[in-house]
Amino acid sequence: MILRSSLLFLSRRKALRRWMETSALVRPLTVRFVAGQTLEEALGVCTRLQHDGVMITLDRLGENVTSLEEAEASRDGYIAALRRITDLELAGSVSIKLTQFGMDLSEDACRKNAGRLVEEARRLGKVVEIDMESSDYVDRTLRLVIELHESSGNVRSVIQAYLRRSEKDVERLCEKRVPVRLCKGAYREPASVAFRRKSEVDRSYVRLMKVLLERGNYPALATHDERIIGEAQRFAAASGIGKDRFEFQMLYGIRRDLERRFVEQGYRLRLYVPFGHAWYPYFMRRLAERPANLLFLMRNLVRG
Ligand code: FDA
Repeated sequence: MILRSSLLFLSRRKALRRWMETSALVRPLTVRFVAGQTLEEALGVCTRLQHDGVMITLDRLGENVTSLEEAEASRDGYIAALRRITDLELAGSVSIKLTQFGMDLSEDACRKNAGRLVEEARRLGKVVEIDMESSDYVDRTLRLVIELHESSGNVRSVIQAYLRRSEKDVERLCEKRVPVRLCKGAYREPASVAFRRKSEVDRSYVRLMKVLLERGNYPALATHDERIIGEAQRFAAASGIGKDRFEFQMLYGIRRDLERRFVEQGYRLRLYVPFGHAWYPYFMRRLAERPANLLFLMRNLVRG
């Protein structure tokens, strides 16, 4: 728990971020979780995944931009990514963070940037998935996602099972027929807003998962937790919910063994594929989820 908190704390340190992102020593170690530095590298990975029967959602790394020019560049980068996904006939969506679209600077500018991307995605027959960041952003994010859903219909929201408020949010999103990706939650949150114990988070996940499977609009179950995955499969089968009425999602590079099994069993699986230079906060959250990854990283650094 202390190690997890420390890694999440470090994930927000700017000087360490600058050093890590520009260090030739560290970059090769990120390849397990990050599909490349450029869009074309990531598309190469996506094409291979599609060949193996796996869908993708492409994440152009970057969050908490500090100028509106950067926010517009993120939007344009995503529009370019959507067009390439379409050219290559990939079964893919894109995943964005609203702080990458200017949420910290101007809610209105962020709305315009996200609206433009969603409109272009609609024209191309694609979906935009809107990641959920720390709890400070939840109200603003849900407000914008619901607005975009009502105007365009091609967005997916994210719910974090560790938040105490999520049961109410799931009810609201089900009522409005907004598709939801359910994950456990990856940020450092106080006990007043989030469950801290794994057993509590897992219980909340299973509760919300059942609501979404029964009443949600094509939910996405984003987890690598085999116990929960098994429970979802049994619950769906027992309730007569077909394998085409929901999908599983996992992060690129975490459980390749499970990926194969899903496809063989006929479940829909989408991998979250991140790419780009701004990989540090994403990478640190992956280390925090499994401190054994830190040992792996240290061993490789020492080996040089
Ligand atoms: P849990 O952490 O309990 O792990 C279960 C098992 O999975 C572990 O025992 C291990 O085997 C494996 N595992 C998990 N993480 C690993 C890692 N980093 N390295 C190696 N093995 C690992 N969060 C968020 O706050 N906002 C968001 O928008 C999203 N979006 C998102 C999309 C997708 C597709 C996924 C899969 C996840 C997210 N997340 C997220 C992250 C999520 O909240 C959570 O932090 C991670 O998925 C880890 O939780 P698990 O459900 O895998 O369970």
